[in-house]
Amino acid sequence: MKYHVKDIKLADKGKKRIEWAEREMPVLRLIKERFTKQKPLKGVRMACCLHVTTETANLTITLKAGGADVRLCASNPLSTQDDTAAALVKHYGISTFAIKGEDNKTYYSHLNKSLEDSPNITMDDGADLVSTIHSKRKDLIDGIIGGTEETTTGVIRLRAMENDGVLAYPIIAVNDALTKHLFDNRYGTGQSSLDGILRATNVLIAGKVFVIAGYGWCGRGVAVRAKGMGADVIVTEIDPMKALEASMDGYRVMTMAQAARIGDIFITLTGDVNVIDEKHLKVMKDGAIICNSGHFNCEINIDALRKLSKTVKIARDFVEEFTLRNGRKVYLLGEGRLINLAAAEGHPASVMDMSFANQALGAEYMIKMGKELENKVYSVPEDIDKEIARLKLKAMGVQIDVLTPEQKKYLASWQEGT
Ligand SMILES: NC(=O)c1ccc[n+]([C@@H]2O[C@H](COP(=O)([O-])OP(=O)(O)OC[C@H]3O[C@@H](n4cnc5c(N)ncnc54)[C@H](O)[C@@H]3O)[C@@H](O)[C@H]2O)c1
Repeated sequence: MKYHVKDIKLADKGKKRIEWAEREMPVLRLIKERFTKQKPLKGVRMACCLHVTTETANLTITLKAGGADVRLCASNPLSTQDDTAAALVKHYGISTFAIKGEDNKTYYSHLNKSLEDSPNITMDDGADLVSTIHSKRKDLIDGIIGGTEETTTGVIRLRAMENDGVLAYPIIAVNDALTKHLFDNRYGTGQSSLDGILRATNVLIAGKVFVIAGYGWCGRGVAVRAKGMGADVIVTEIDPMKALEASMDGYRVMTMAQAARIGDIFITLTGDVNVIDEKHLKVMKDGAIICNSGHFNCEINIDALRKLSKTVKIARDFVEEFTLRNGRKVYLLGEGRLINLAAAEGHPASVMDMSFANQALGAEYMIKMGKELENKVYSVPEDIDKEIARLKLKAMGVQIDVLTPEQKKYLASWQEGT
């Protein structure tokens, strides 16, 4: 088996952590039990480019139980958990190519390793496999039935490819499932981004002016938690509807140019570029902390930050201290990469349970239906989404009401009045 991990001796520690995460993933466990019996992915070669965390480990173990031959690489150079990668190789026989802190060249060489077996299915988080295949490995396209995509940014890239008529195989947009973005993006990113900031800095959130760029699913998850911890939360937005919502949810809303002067902690979660730009960095207070939890490390203009600085030093793990020419210090966390994965452990297993149930069932659906699909981006079928919600509620021991025949009739009729 081919692999490239940091240290295979970390495998036993990784196995314990993978098993710990599995306890909180009851829906994926049920899917694994069924996959073990039915082998719906028998003989399917899968290239997976995902954050190599304990939750992802449980997904790849499930895919393997379903009969797939899985190759895994990281979807971000800083998000790999080295013990998890080692355990996947040693204890679960999954070809893994990922090392935390790998440089760009190694990142892409790992990505190419995951493609070496000519995959039938690609599973992406940020569309790096799809874009590599469409630009440099077009020879693989004929053998690919379809793919799945995990995150908002990846889905945006793939829809752009579909609109330009260049997408060469169908994709299931896992992020579009309600059981994904309503929970993973909101509760997962909400909790784990704060976890990342705290583990990197150990600053007190209470009393801080906490600036959140982007009030989408991720941004609102962070906002409510920062507020709950006593921060004075400011939201910046470009969408009037989201800005209005943030305002009525009780946050101050203003431009980044205004917020830059008063913020203590900044986090970007937009999927956009240079949201914190040179003009904002120049006016920040001494001691400002900046980080990103959007998919790519382009939301903060790090080149501008370097140019504005006279010195840069490591203040502590995942914290770089930039001393600007104006004498002020600005602290960049996790090299501007996803802070929740760089400095913490990513999303808690309980939300990834639903995201990865969508991934596993999305792959199964692609094997069944892929040949009939066009080269487009498809949402997860509604019945799969609802079934995941039903299974999750069951696992949580929560019961809900069912419509009575009278209610069903009432809700379907238009004749009933006052
Ligand atoms: N950290 C993680 O683990 C994690 C998890 C899920 C998603 N993501 C990523 O987080 C990002 C946001 O995802 P989402 O699901 O919240 O997306 P979303 O589309 O729901 O929200 C993004 C918001 O950012 C706003 N925005 C865009 N440009 C802006 C700008 N210049 N200034 C201020 N606001 C701006 C948009 O109007 C939108 O409301 C994406 O890159 C996504 O891939 C990260």
